[in-house]
Amino acid sequence: MTLFRASVLDTPADPFTGGRLRSDDDCGLLVEQGVITARGPFETLRTAHPDEPVLDLREGILLPGMVDTHVHFPQVRIIGGLGLPLLDWLDQCALPEEMRLADVDHARGVAHDFVSGLVDAGTTTALVFGAHFAGAVDTMFEAADQWGLRVTTGLVTSDRLLPEPLLTTPERARAESRELAGRWHGKGRLRYAVTPRFSLSASDALLESCAQTVAEVPGAFFTSHVNENVHEIREVASLFDGAAYVDTYDRHGLLTPRSVLAHDVHPTDRELATLAGRGTAVAHCPTSNAALGSGLFPLRRHVEAGVRVALGSDVGAGTGFSLFKEGLQAYFAQQLLGEQGLPLTSAHLLWLSTAAGADALGLADEVGVLSVGRQFDAIWVLPEPGDPLAVGLANAASADDALSKVFALGTTSDVGGVWVGGDQIAAGRWRRPRDR
Ligand code: GUN
Ligand code: ZN
Repeated sequence: MTLFRASVLDTPADPFTGGRLRSDDDCGLLVEQGVITARGPFETLRTAHPDEPVLDLREGILLPGMVDTHVHFPQVRIIGGLGLPLLDWLDQCALPEEMRLADVDHARGVAHDFVSGLVDAGTTTALVFGAHFAGAVDTMFEAADQWGLRVTTGLVTSDRLLPEPLLTTPERARAESRELAGRWHGKGRLRYAVTPRFSLSASDALLESCAQTVAEVPGAFFTSHVNENVHEIREVASLFDGAAYVDTYDRHGLLTPRSVLAHDVHPTDRELATLAGRGTAVAHCPTSNAALGSGLFPLRRHVEAGVRVALGSDVGAGTGFSLFKEGLQAYFAQQLLGEQGLPLTSAHLLWLSTAAGADALGLADEVGVLSVGRQFDAIWVLPEPGDPLAVGLANAASADDALSKVFALGTTSDVGGVWVGGDQIAAGRWRRPRDR
C-alpha cells in the first residue's frame, strides 16, 4: 500500500457536456495492489492510515496516464518527414520503413524505441497500429508486456495497392491474426485489434475476413483509417462503386463501440450519423493532420453528431509522442476554424488525452481518471526548476490556468514519473542523473 500526496487534476465528467476540471490541491490517493482505494484530503487519509508509506509529489502536478488512441509502432524512426501529402508520404516515407520490419530482429529494436517513446511521453494506454508482419507484431506485444503498458494492437493487413511485401490474402490475414490473438489477447494488459490498413488497400474480401476475425476473438477491437485526405477519399469511392468511406467498413459490420477510426477530417453528415449510431470512436490526430496538410478536424460536427472523439499522436505522420503537443495542436486547429471551430479549454484537452481515450478503448472503468476503484495509472508533471513551465505553474492564476500551461509548454522532458497499475515504470529525465 502507498499513500500518494499530490496536486491532482483530472476530468471525471465530459467537459463537452458540462463537466469541469477536478482539482485537488493537497490530495491523498491510497493505492493498494495497483488500485486507488481511497481519495480525499491528504491529512484525512493520513489519519486513517498512519502507518502507510507516503510518496510526496506536491512539487509538481499529478495527472492520469495519457491515452493515445492512434499511434503506428513501425514508424517511430521516421517521425519528422515533413513536406508531403498523405499518399506521397506513405509511398516515400512510411511504407519503405514498414517493409524493413520483415526482419524480426530489426522489428524488435523498433518496438523498443517505440515503447520507450510512449513511456517517456507519459502514455500508459495506447491503441497501437501494428506492423504488416506477424513476427514484428509479436515483438510489439513482447515490449509492451515487459513495460506493463496497456496496449491494444494487431497485425496490419492489406491485399492491394501497397508494395508487394506488405500484401497478404484474406485467408492468411485471418489465420495469422487468430494465431497472434491466441497468444496475446487478454494476456496481462494486452488486447488484440483487427487492423486493415485502410479501405484503399483492402478489398471487400479482406474486410470480410476482418469481420470474421473480430467475431472469432471475443473482446477484440477494430481499428483503421477513414476520411483523412481528399485524394484518398476520391480513390476509395472509385474502388467501392462510389460508396462513402465509412460505409466501406460498416457494410461488413466492422463498426461497433469497440471500433476506432483514425482522422475523419472530411466526413459527410451521414457518415457522422453512422459513426454515432454504431458507437464507433474517432481518433483525432491533430499534428499529423497539420503536417500532412490533411485539413482542420471538424470537432464541432463530431460532438454535435454524438461521435466519441479522443486524441492520437499518429507517429510517424505526427510530430512525436507527446499528447500535450497533440492537445495544443487540437486547440490551435479549433481556433483556426473560426466560427466553425469548437473553442477548447484546458479541461477539454485533458479529457481528450485521458478519459476520452479510456472511453474510446472500453477502459473507462479502469483508467483515465484518478478516482476510487480505478487503476493507479498516473504521470507526474515536474518541470525542471527555472524552466518556463515551472515558472508558469508557480504563477498560475487557477488550476485551469496551470493546466493550460502544461499543454502550452509541457514536453516529454517534463514527465517526472510514470505509473501503470501502481508500478512506477519511469522517472523523469532531468532527475535521473541526480538520482543515480
Ligand atoms: N492511412 C493509411 N496508412 C496510414 C499511415 O500510416 N498514416 C496515416 N496518417 N494515414 C494512413
Ligand atoms: Zn494512422
